[in-house]
Amino acid sequence: MRSGSGGLRLEGVTVHRAGVPVVRDVGFAAPRGEVTVLLGPNGAGKTTLLEAVSGVLPVASGTVWLEDVDVTALLPEERVGHGLAHVEQGRTVFAELTVEENLRVATAGPVEEVYHLFPELERRRRLPAGRLSGGEQQMLVIGRALLMEPTMLMVDEISLGLAPVVVRRLVPVVRVLARRGVGVLMVEQFATIALRVADRAVVLDRGEVVYEGEPAGLERRVDLLHGAYLGRRGGAASSREGTP
Ligand SMILES: Nc1ncnc2c1ncn2[C@@H]1O[C@H](COP(=O)(O)OP(=O)(O)OP(=O)(O)O)[C@@H](O)[C@H]1O
Ligand SMILES: [Mg+2]
Repeated sequence: MRSGSGGLRLEGVTVHRAGVPVVRDVGFAAPRGEVTVLLGPNGAGKTTLLEAVSGVLPVASGTVWLEDVDVTALLPEERVGHGLAHVEQGRTVFAELTVEENLRVATAGPVEEVYHLFPELERRRRLPAGRLSGGEQQMLVIGRALLMEPTMLMVDEISLGLAPVVVRRLVPVVRVLARRGVGVLMVEQFATIALRVADRAVVLDRGEVVYEGEPAGLERRVDLLHGAYLGRRGGAASSREGTP
C-alpha cells in the first residue's frame, strides 16, 4: 500500500512562517487512488504544509515528490502541470458569475462531469453563484478543481461553517475521485466524517506528525481523537457527530 503508486510523498519537510519552523520534519505519503485525511488542532500547521506542497510557501528543508518527480523547487503553476490541484482554505466562488460561468473559468472543455457529481449544481447552472447555499458553493469550488483533471487533489477545510448534514453530503465525494485514481489529501475539522471516508490518516500537532496510519487505528487512540488534538474548534461537534 505504501507509495510506489505515485501520488504525493513528503520527506523531512520543514516549513517556516516568519522565520519560525511551524512544520517540522514531516514525512508521509498520500498515494493515488486513496483518501488521506490530515487532522490536527488549530495552528498545527496543516494549511502551512499544504501551501508548501503547492509551492505557495517555500520549503526550508526536505523534499516534495509528485508522481515520483521532485517538485520541491518548482513554481506553483509548474506543480499544477504535474497534476496538482489545491482547494485553499477559505476559497470561494465568483458570486456575480453564474454556476456555469464559474465552471467555464476552469476549463474550455465540458463541465458535465461536475453536474454528474453534483446534480444540485446542474439545476442551478444559470443562477449567480452568490445565491447558492454554503454547501453548494463548496461543491462548485470542488467542481472547478476537478475540471483541472488533477492526479492529486488537496482540499483544505471545505466544511468550514457548514452544518454536519451538509458535510456528510460533501465529504464522501472524495471517495468517488479516489475510485477514479485521484489521490486526495484532505484537511478536515469534522474528524469522524473524514475518518469514515479515509484510507489513511495523519495527525499533525505543533508542526510534527504524531500519528500516521489506518483511520481505524486512530479511532482507538482516544487521546488523539478526543483530547487536545481535535477538540479545540468544532471538535466537540465533530466527535459527537456520527459517533455510533
Ligand atoms: N501568515 C502568517 N505569518 C506568520 N505566522 C503564521 C501565518 N499563518 C499562520 N501562522 C502560524 O503558523 C502556524 C501554523 O498555522 P496554520 O494556519 O498552518 O495551522 P492550521 O493547522 O492550518 O490551523 P487551522 O486549523 O486554524 O486552519 C500557527 O502557529 C500560526 O499562528
Ligand atoms: Mg488551516
